[in-house]
Amino acid sequence: MTDIHTHILYSFDDGADNIDISIDMLEEQRRQSIDTVILTPHYDPHEAALDSFCEIRQNRLNNLLKYTDIKLIAASETYFSNALLHMTTILPLCIGNSRDILIELPFGCRLDKVLLMQLENLIGKYCVRPIIAHVERTRILHQIGGLDKLHDIGCLVQVNCEFAQRNIKSVTKLIKLGRIDYLASDCHNMDSRPPCLGDTLHMLDTEAAEILKENIDNLIINKR
Ligand SMILES: [Fe+2]
Repeated sequence: MTDIHTHILYSFDDGADNIDISIDMLEEQRRQSIDTVILTPHYDPHEAALDSFCEIRQNRLNNLLKYTDIKLIAASETYFSNALLHMTTILPLCIGNSRDILIELPFGCRLDKVLLMQLENLIGKYCVRPIIAHVERTRILHQIGGLDKLHDIGCLVQVNCEFAQRNIKSVTKLIKLGRIDYLASDCHNMDSRPPCLGDTLHMLDTEAAEILKENIDNLIINKR
């Protein structure tokens, strides 16, 4: 199984403080039968140049590979803003060699006409498929037809395991309805926000767990 949203790369963002914590987090992922980890450090176009972000990410990733046999894939959790629409490319921010990009929307935002248009512009300009990170932190989850509208324009939707554990019935239903595509740990450390995807998957019934697995398989084969 693959965890598509993690802050395991050390000394990068508000995730792992050092390489020892990164290694502990990877060992915990292994214990929970996670064999592929997508590394998604925060990227904000206002705060860092893309080149230096990618260079540091690759450096840290190479170092971590010496200590684990878990498959590690470079990606990002990219903060959504209009600035993204004015870059030369955003493809290095996508998951591995795919055109899938984990996008963090502003906390508490609604899916209004402006946001829909901005997302459509992002998709149109770079031919990417945004995966909306922890959609439960926005109001979209509670907007009638909100998740469907995201899918209609070509987005996918991710929910954090912590939220899923607290709302397992409704999340299971939304997975079966195709309105939630991924659960991910969004792990940051080993204490307050540890890896928890494997443990969460055990709380789902077989049908919902199979759907998530299929969605992950589609993600990995979606190469650019
Ligand atoms: Fe995150």
